[in-house]
Amino acid sequence: MRAAVVKSLGQPPVAGELPEPTRGEGQALIEVKAAALNPFDLVVASGALYSPPPLPFAPGAEGVGVVVEGDRLSPGARVRFQGMAGALAERVAADEAGVIELNGDLPDEVVAGLGVAGMAALLALEWRAQLRRGETVLVLGATGVVGALAVQIAKILGAARVVAAGRDRDALSATREHGADATVQLDGQAPEQLGAEFQAAADGPVDVIVDAVWGVPAAAATYAAAPGARLVNIGQSAGPVAALPSAMVRSKLLTILGHTNLLAPPELRTAAFERLLDHVARGELSLPYETIPLAKVAEAWERQSHSPHRKLIVRVAES
Ligand SMILES: NC(=O)c1ccc[n+]([C@@H]2O[C@H](COP(=O)([O-])OP(=O)(O)OC[C@H]3O[C@@H](n4cnc5c(N)ncnc54)[C@H](OP(=O)(O)O)[C@@H]3O)[C@@H](O)[C@H]2O)c1
Repeated sequence: MRAAVVKSLGQPPVAGELPEPTRGEGQALIEVKAAALNPFDLVVASGALYSPPPLPFAPGAEGVGVVVEGDRLSPGARVRFQGMAGALAERVAADEAGVIELNGDLPDEVVAGLGVAGMAALLALEWRAQLRRGETVLVLGATGVVGALAVQIAKILGAARVVAAGRDRDALSATREHGADATVQLDGQAPEQLGAEFQAAADGPVDVIVDAVWGVPAAAATYAAAPGARLVNIGQSAGPVAALPSAMVRSKLLTILGHTNLLAPPELRTAAFERLLDHVARGELSLPYETIPLAKVAEAWERQSHSPHRKLIVRVAES
């Protein structure tokens, strides 16, 4: 079958051929229509953090397709699936427990790309931070896809004011179209200075920080935190270590939370995904995306490594 093929760890996949997958017990064989690229896929294919499948393999953690054969699922069902890898291929064997049947008629691209990023944004705000209506939210890494969705979802959940922070000037100004009330450009400021800029943009201290970057911006956000604030870390684009000042953590009664979709209860993930689809269907939430043919997967992979400012969706099926 046609697939994006990772031949050695740390190297981009190239369009090629792989053997057909074999469906195990509790799995569905799915004909893939479209699959998304996520930073997670690059980490898996680097071999640095998770155990990747044996080489050569097709990367890709999420996608949309049609069931060919399953235990619980019937042939012909249109589904969203998720796993460690395998989505960037004509067919994938996916655990049925993580497969969600789809009802609406949203485009394959939106369904394929909304899950990982959207669930991280929604679950970080609602499940981890317990955002309350009327609170102020700061999104670090708002120029990325998770951040762009977090800005919109914070508004949907009733945030009174949302501040978007990111490096890329154009992508940052686009967050205004997603509902950001103010923006702060990350431009190498020292933590205290950056914290003051966050607070000025927020018109006061911030209650919830959704942090996709860690490093200096996360440390800076502690200066802008309100008493009782919650900082939810979901990524480390700006660095794996943040020097958080104890005085800010103590004096703000700051709660620092981690979030990974992988450890959220499956029923919570499914409910979150279905709500995300509803918000998109109602026109309240939009996923910035671009469709790429499978033949150009190596190029897309390279773009994903440098923050493409939209979800890159690989069209796997020819039609
Ligand atoms: N915990 C979870 O379950 C979960 C789920 C999804 C994603 N994530 C993580 O969340 C992060 C964002 O994911 P994404 O899908 O939004 O990725 P993305 O679309 O590729 O965006 C990357 C973001 O990181 C920013 N960035 C990159 N290098 C930076 C630096 N040195 N300093 C400051 N900002 C920097 C980019 O800012 P500019 O474009 O402005 O440079 C952009 O906002 C990733 O680390 C990803 O692994 C975690």
